[in-house]
Amino acid sequence: MPLSVGEAPSYPLAQYLEQSNTPHSQLIYGCMGLGGGWNNNSVSGADVKQAQAVIETCLAHNIRTFDHADIYTFGKAEIAFGRVLAEQPHLRAQMSIQSKCGIRFADALGGKRYDLSPEWVTQSVDSILTRLQIEHIDVLLLHRPDPLLDVAALAQALMQLHQQGKIGHIGVSNMHVAQIAQLQAALTIPLVANQIELSLGHTGLINSAIEPEQPHAGMAEYAQTHGLQIQAWGALFQGQFTRAIDANTSTNTQHTINLINSLANKYGVSQEAIMLSFLTRLPMQIQPIIGSTNLARIADCAQVYQVRLSRCDWYALLESSRAQEIP
Ligand SMILES: NC(=O)c1ccc[n+]([C@@H]2O[C@H](COP(=O)([O-])OP(=O)(O)OC[C@H]3O[C@@H](n4cnc5c(N)ncnc54)[C@H](OP(=O)(O)O)[C@@H]3O)[C@@H](O)[C@H]2O)c1
Repeated sequence: MPLSVGEAPSYPLAQYLEQSNTPHSQLIYGCMGLGGGWNNNSVSGADVKQAQAVIETCLAHNIRTFDHADIYTFGKAEIAFGRVLAEQPHLRAQMSIQSKCGIRFADALGGKRYDLSPEWVTQSVDSILTRLQIEHIDVLLLHRPDPLLDVAALAQALMQLHQQGKIGHIGVSNMHVAQIAQLQAALTIPLVANQIELSLGHTGLINSAIEPEQPHAGMAEYAQTHGLQIQAWGALFQGQFTRAIDANTSTNTQHTINLINSLANKYGVSQEAIMLSFLTRLPMQIQPIIGSTNLARIADCAQVYQVRLSRCDWYALLESSRAQEIP
């Protein structure tokens, strides 16, 4: 059943961004592919041009929320994005920006580690703002849980960053329900989002509603009860269900690709839109994050705003991705 653009139901994070009149969208552009790759080359003019083309394409297709992390292409994704904003400052008012911190790669001090210490989080936010050349980010996400976390100390640092106006809202990523509840209890403002790996190829959150022993058990219910936004990273499953079938494609994957193709025909939208609508059909109003740098593919993704899958089609996709019947 096609929906007209703008008719998409509201999603939990929208209420927070609307408090500050910040533009936003249910579909999020993930900036991990910007900045010229995971190497030590400096950001080139071509990298900035690529970021500019991506931003313009996104805005033209009503994709207004941009997802960063301090580590993406070793900081270069934020640098390239920041140069575009510096050259065209009017763009900042047309989007919301989120970034993440808490993962540290090996350096002179030690090996790869997670670090949600107050010092590192505070320093990371300042570095993010410098690279993006902006005064504040709309949402800060804690990238991964840190087993050495001092919750009270972190909460104090986060509240200070919020009071200083450097971060509008706080969220997490890759956390489970108990970790979120523990951090929330130490904060005086609501956690607004949890970003997890979720797609037709990674259905842990969905299967946990059917089989409670699955990963992410209770997360969907917690999110709906507390108005927590679920953001889905890897929402295109890196193209594994939307690319052409070849000799290496398994029989199960072929079945899912063929099903997506037939649903794309039925609903009159792209294959990518069907992939993403599998997520937006869920009652907790997921925000899919797309990481394509292909401008045509970004436009194809935006067709998700035009489709709402029937219950039967949604379950056919779920069954196909599980490669077995639901119990
Ligand atoms: N919180 C976390 O821990 C975490 C982890 C990973 C990612 N993320 C966020 O999520 C975003 C998306 O992640 P992602 O990039 O892994 O996921 P994705 O959007 O599922 O995959 C994008 C990749 O798939 C390729 N692709 C898509 N469709 C294709 C097709 N039909 N044929 C060939 N290639 C195709 C794209 O290539 P083209 O560029 O050529 O289209 C791109 O390399 C990231 O940018 C980041 O913001 C968050």
